[in-house]
Amino acid sequence: MVVNSLVHVNECGLPLNAIEWLETHHASKAREREQMIRDLHLKAGSFVVDAGCGPGLWTPLLARALGPKGRIIGVDISAEALVTAQRRSQGKSYRHQVQYKCAALEQLPIAPGSADAIFSANVSQYLPEPVNTFAAMGNYLADGGRIVIKDIDFGTMRFYNVDADLQTRVLHAREDWERVRVQEGYAFEDSWVGSKLAGYLRAAGYENVQEKSYRILRKYPLPENFRFYLQGIAQWFVCEGAPFLSNDDTQRWLQCFLDGPHNVLDQETFLSEETEYIVTAVWRNRPSSTVRYFDLHHMHLQPQAAI
Ligand SMILES: C[S@@+](CC[C@H](N)C(=O)[O-])C[C@H]1O[C@@H](n2cnc3c(N)ncnc32)[C@H](O)[C@@H]1O
Repeated sequence: MVVNSLVHVNECGLPLNAIEWLETHHASKAREREQMIRDLHLKAGSFVVDAGCGPGLWTPLLARALGPKGRIIGVDISAEALVTAQRRSQGKSYRHQVQYKCAALEQLPIAPGSADAIFSANVSQYLPEPVNTFAAMGNYLADGGRIVIKDIDFGTMRFYNVDADLQTRVLHAREDWERVRVQEGYAFEDSWVGSKLAGYLRAAGYENVQEKSYRILRKYPLPENFRFYLQGIAQWFVCEGAPFLSNDDTQRWLQCFLDGPHNVLDQETFLSEETEYIVTAVWRNRPSSTVRYFDLHHMHLQPQAAI
C-alpha cells in the first residue's frame, strides 16, 4: 500500500483542500473554532476580511461575532471554494453582510487602510514568503487594525496508542519532505507553521503580537467526522511516495489508521492531541519607506509562550 497521489486535493492542486475535506475538518473541530472566534472579541459592526476563506465555513461565526451591522469580504484564489461559500450563505441571516471575491492575500480587493481586521485561517501554511505576504496585508488595515492568523502545527500532533518511535519517524520524514518538495515540483507547504506565526508577524512590522494556543484532544469513541479527518491526515503524512520514510514504516503507519485489525482509532485507549495557534497583531500605518523587509535567516523564530 503506497500513497503516491495527493490527498483530498482541490482544483488549485493543494492537498487537504477539497471542499468535503474542509467541511468535515471544520465540523470535527467546531467546538474549538467557535471558542477561537469568541476569544477574539471582534468589534461589533466592524469590517473584516476573511483571507483565504475557502468554502465560507468561518463566515457564520464571524457574522455572529460582528452582529447585524458588521461586514465581511471573503477572498480566495479557488473559484470552486468561492462558489460553495456563496451557495452556503444563500438564505442565511448574514447574507446581505457578506461578499465573496477571487483574489490573492497580497492583493485584496478593498481600498488600502480600509479593513478593521483581517482574519486568515489555515492559509499561512501555503505561503512561501509569509513575512512579505503579512506585510502586504497590513497595508489594507486601518491604522490600529488587527490581523488574526490561525494555523496548525503538526509538530504538536500525538497519538497515545501508536508506537512513539514510529510517530517520530513519520513526522520527521514529512517535515524533511516539506523542506524539499518545492524542488520536486510540488506546491509549498509548511505544516509546522503555527508556532512560527508570532515571529513572522513581528518581522512583518506588526505590533502587540499575541499568541494563543488551542489544544485539541479527542478520545475513543471518535465521532465520524474526526475519524475521517484523522484518516485523511494519516494518508497525507505518507503521500507523494513518502521519500524519507521506509516502506515498512509507511505500511505500519497506514495500518494504524485505515480500517482493519490494527486500527488504533477503534481501541478504547485511543487519545489524540494537536495544538493549533491563533496569533493576533496590530498594524500601525507608517511611511512605506520605513516598512521593514527581513532576512528570514537572521530572524529568531522561537515559539512564544501561550497566553
Ligand atoms: C486549508 S484551506 C482553508 C479554508 C478556510 N480558511 C478554512 O479554514 O476552512 C486554504 C484556502 O486558502 C486558499 N489560498 C491558498 N493560498 C492563497 C493565496 N495566496 N491567496 C488567497 N487564497 C489562498 C486556498 O484556495 C484554500 O481555499
